[in-house]
Amino acid sequence: MTEFRHLLGIEGLDPPAVTALLDLAESYVLLNRSGKTQRDLLRGRTLINLFFEDSTRTRTSFELAGKRLGADVINMSVSTSSVTKGETLLDTAATLNAMNCDLLVVRHNRSGAPALLAQKVDAAVINAGDGTHEHPTQALLDALTIRRRKGRISGLTVAICGDIAHSRVARSNILLLTMLGNFVRVVGPPTLMPAGIEAPGVEVYHDMALGLAGADIVMALRLQKERMTGGMIPSTREFFNFYGLDRAKLGFAKPDALVMHPGPMNRGVEIDSDVADDPLRSVIREQVEMGVAVRMAVLDRLGRRKF
Ligand code: CP
Repeated sequence: MTEFRHLLGIEGLDPPAVTALLDLAESYVLLNRSGKTQRDLLRGRTLINLFFEDSTRTRTSFELAGKRLGADVINMSVSTSSVTKGETLLDTAATLNAMNCDLLVVRHNRSGAPALLAQKVDAAVINAGDGTHEHPTQALLDALTIRRRKGRISGLTVAICGDIAHSRVARSNILLLTMLGNFVRVVGPPTLMPAGIEAPGVEVYHDMALGLAGADIVMALRLQKERMTGGMIPSTREFFNFYGLDRAKLGFAKPDALVMHPGPMNRGVEIDSDVADDPLRSVIREQVEMGVAVRMAVLDRLGRRKF
């Protein structure tokens, strides 16, 4: 099993390491549902959430996860920090490092920013999403959600739909799902398909009927307008008509196919409320619950050791 000091991506993990994290997260699902906490596991450890991009789910769940394990958790507000006075990423990290923090959870709009910090600080660095590169804890929580619902996380056909080009969620999911022996289809317009996406276990589709045919899982992705340069789609209305996940398009997948979305959702753009809120098909809320458990597992794994 791969030993890892930081969690910078799914790349670098191996199947035993992923399975061990999912198994540990499973125990935290049960603990969280019991209403109990594990308050002393990370007592005396400090976790700093350093988010240079907005977040609801990831930041809150890392905060909850840290507190449930007994860590001291600090949410650094970048907009009111000395970053606004011109302090660099590395100087900011060096400052936090001098305060002896143990876990640094980083979200940044530049791909590779967490990896750069990991070379400069003593803390364990966790990538909470970097540019279009990776969002490893999202892929882990997606895998846990699928494994709990389908009873396995191998041999499944997973259709990932929409804005693949700008999605770190897609990239981490492709790495994790193919590593565990699933078949991934990426479905979207050619303008939102990154170069070099083809890989063993990954098929590219531009037609939802073909891409979703017989799928076990349909994952819709947010249209990331903030990362687009120029008009990559004619209009959101047209995008929805061709690629928005609605009841009719979901009908191409297996009758028991699950609907997933990492959030935040743009209803009526990449997903219709009718399927997003369908309690029989949608596991979007469950993904959020799994996010806390997965982040507890990651903090448990990386936070116990003092480097
Ligand atoms: N899925 C996800 O990363 O959501 P947030 O941007 O709210 O953290």
